[in-house]
Amino acid sequence: NSEGPDAKNLRVKLVLLGDSGVGKSCIVLRFVHGQFDPTSKVTVGASFLSQTIALQDSTTVKFEIWDTAGQERYAALAPLYYRGAGVAVIVYDITSPESFTKAQYWVKELQKHGSAGIVMALVGNKADLQEKREVSVQDGIDYAEENGMFFIETSAKTADNINQLFEEIAKRLP
Ligand code: GTP
Ligand code: MG
Repeated sequence: NSEGPDAKNLRVKLVLLGDSGVGKSCIVLRFVHGQFDPTSKVTVGASFLSQTIALQDSTTVKFEIWDTAGQERYAALAPLYYRGAGVAVIVYDITSPESFTKAQYWVKELQKHGSAGIVMALVGNKADLQEKREVSVQDGIDYAEENGMFFIETSAKTADNINQLFEEIAKRLP
């Protein structure tokens, strides 16, 4: 557990939002269980998982993760999951411009209705599919910067930047 004068134990509610199929559930599965499921099923409603990480200064952060369903029919449920969340992770697929547009919709929705001071991260997932890329890294960087968000590209398949995503979020918690 925590040691040293500056160590803290933090707990934060984190919500994942984004179009169906962008890889939200795979990101969570990779982060929590270190696995990848190429046959991942669409999420129904939402699912909950938690994972604790330790930072360098021995602060621990427990993420209480709500993995929402991206299919349009579940869109009206989203406020149930982002209400009271300290962190929102908004995910798109770098091979899908439509999913990038949808990510921008979620950013605006959270700016209007999310908790004050919510930490927001913009994630371009499926970074392993470089040959199919249709959203440039610069477009992600620019949009995130304009909206005061942290930006990272990840691959749930190869595990690239998955732990870094959660570590960077942890460092930005108030
Ligand atoms: P909903 O639950 O419907 O909102 O979708 P989701 O965002 O949870 O998508 P999910 O994690 O189920 O992944 C959808 C598909 O993308 C699955 O076939 C995954 O195997 C695949 N996938 C997820 N992440 C990656 C990735 O980083 N790279 C590649 N190549 N495929 C991925
Ligand atoms: Mg899912």
